[in-house]
Amino acid sequence: MSNTLHVINTTFKNDVCKGLSATHKYLDSKYFYDEIGDDLFIQIMNMPEYYLTRAEFDIFKHKTRHLIQALGVHPETHFDVIELGAGDGTKTKALLEVLHHTNFKFSYLPVDISANALSILKHNITMALPEVSIYPQEGDYFNILKDIKRTKTPKVVLFLGSNIGNLTDLEAKGFISKLSAALNPKDKVILGTDLIKSKSIVLPAYSDAAGITKQFNLNILHRINKELQGNFNIDAFVHEAEYTEEEGIAKSFLKSTKTQSVYVEALEKAFHFNKGERIHTEISRKYNDTILAEILEGSSLKITDKLTDSNGVFADYILEKV
Ligand code: AVJ
Repeated sequence: MSNTLHVINTTFKNDVCKGLSATHKYLDSKYFYDEIGDDLFIQIMNMPEYYLTRAEFDIFKHKTRHLIQALGVHPETHFDVIELGAGDGTKTKALLEVLHHTNFKFSYLPVDISANALSILKHNITMALPEVSIYPQEGDYFNILKDIKRTKTPKVVLFLGSNIGNLTDLEAKGFISKLSAALNPKDKVILGTDLIKSKSIVLPAYSDAAGITKQFNLNILHRINKELQGNFNIDAFVHEAEYTEEEGIAKSFLKSTKTQSVYVEALEKAFHFNKGERIHTEISRKYNDTILAEILEGSSLKITDKLTDSNGVFADYILEKV
């Protein structure tokens, strides 16, 4: 047994076993993000083809007044700004700066499962805005939101970057209902969503010329090799991205370039790949008003405003708990 040598994440192990045993093989995109994956995602955000981050930054930087007015916050009332998924804080900093300099009273609570991400973020925000109170919250989004709900402090929850796009519409509905349950009436959400647009813009964002997205996608196989003692020949898989404007969902795959078998020691199991067979690794859902309305239907979160970037490719929706 190699269990004494390797600490195995059993959730990862079980998910890999299930996904690679399926008729249509799949792996969950949340497994892209180890330290190497985090770093590759930062590189993706800087790729010329990856317009999402720049577009949302444009909203936070140039429509800050509108954003604050849409949040309906009052200068006399203390409120909490809670960010789900810490990121590097660049976008949020633009908002916090204006809030601070216009004398709003608030605390910033970034929530993330990565202590490393939170400490980098805390450093970045403290350097720029030493007077802003920042209370990093390490853990699962909903456990932390439940704790936070205990206080009557008005809340603004940020879920940016089209992170919701990695969820199926059904999963997004579940997410919204849990988020809604964790809020009090009049609390607000800023939900960042990439908008449905032509293939000529979306597809290159998920297949950049420098091949960073390819490395990001392949990182999941590297993780299986490292953490579950797999023997994937990484060179025998290629990255493939698909998108149609009708469906509005970018999809990523890893395609086997030959007939091959892969053995995963932690699972004591071999997986067969036909030439051309694919592992589905990610969906990135794009939105419009109709799709978001369907996801919010039946929940207590209502759209009260929508801000778009100057190119009209990305939207931050303002939701209010009723
Ligand atoms: C972090 C989920 C917003 O789907 O655009 C980037 C992840 N995947 N390139 C996205 C990602 C491939 C990204 N999100």
